[in-house]
Amino acid sequence: MSVFIMAIESSCDDTSVAVLKENEVLSNVVCSQAVHNQFGGVVPELASRDHLKNIILSIDVALKEAQCNLQDISAVAVTRGPGLMGSLLVGISAAKSLSLALNIPLIEVNHIQAHILAHFIKDVHNEKQLSFPFLGLIVSGGHTQLLLVKNFFDYEVLGETLDDAAGEALDKGAKILGLGFPGGPIIDKLAQVGNENKFHFPKANVRSLHFSFSGIKTSLLYLIQKEQQSNKNFIEDNLNDLCASYQKVIVEMLIGGVEQAIEKTKIKQIAIAGGVSANTKLRKELERLSTEKNIEVFTLPLKYCTDNAAMIGIAGYFKYLKKDFASLDIMPITRWEGFRSVSK
Ligand code: KG4
Ligand code: ZN
Repeated sequence: MSVFIMAIESSCDDTSVAVLKENEVLSNVVCSQAVHNQFGGVVPELASRDHLKNIILSIDVALKEAQCNLQDISAVAVTRGPGLMGSLLVGISAAKSLSLALNIPLIEVNHIQAHILAHFIKDVHNEKQLSFPFLGLIVSGGHTQLLLVKNFFDYEVLGETLDDAAGEALDKGAKILGLGFPGGPIIDKLAQVGNENKFHFPKANVRSLHFSFSGIKTSLLYLIQKEQQSNKNFIEDNLNDLCASYQKVIVEMLIGGVEQAIEKTKIKQIAIAGGVSANTKLRKELERLSTEKNIEVFTLPLKYCTDNAAMIGIAGYFKYLKKDFASLDIMPITRWEGFRSVSK
């Protein structure tokens, strides 16, 4: 009999529910919250309230799109962390209720690990195959990590950001420039018609394989404050070039880390994931690196780059096969260091 996994993701500002038949995604509903746009960042309290509003409907739609009903579901997988406490609580409570009411196993999933496991969703990579060990680069709004992925559930952190995440740096930069939220995709778009060599932002000097993105946002702020003294319209007059130059440095820092990780581990395959992995410039630079260094770069379709429940579902499916189930008294883990299950 086939295994059907219902997956719930609510760690930040997207309410998402997916249904998987083994490693195949039957539905992947993502309900993004527009309420944060006016604040230039996620407001945790508003996020939890919106999750509450959206969760039941998202479950219904995911079932309908998958042409399943609740009785078909073999197990329910849910993001336990890392993420916002209130947001995680909504998804976890819904998952516990389903597990209890349907008498099916509950599976806890680490959100970061799931970003990488999205590469194992059926039909994501048909032409080439990822094989362990490979390098993983997670670049999202909350995380920037270089990983040595030894197996589905065995990861070593090679390097990570010491302060802001790459996506956070893009979002904060966009806020300084008066753009909307999330800023990453807006900067990506405007940068495509900008001159990336017009402005120079200093790269952070950190220990190898680690990253630091908080300084660059400050240098953007100082540049703008200085230039606006002589030109009130400095941002408007240079918007595309500012976006391109700012994005370039962030991408260069990420590529620098990747190059060092390849050098250090001699591993020739790298899989990227997380919202920022949708970035055009980052993808282009990785392609260049792939030709220059003879490495294989694995990217995801855009729908699996940003937060989605399908990735929680694939992680849940692999855990289901191992019978790695969680108890009903699990609580969210807002800062989840390492990747081990902690429910047992
Ligand atoms: O993985 P994700 O959806 O959520 C987290 O787990 O944080 O990532 C969201 C981040 C945001 O910072 C957003 O600005 C960024 O991903 N992002 C992008 C692009 N699309 C989303 N950054 C750069 N270029 C993009 N095209
Ligand atoms: Zn994420």
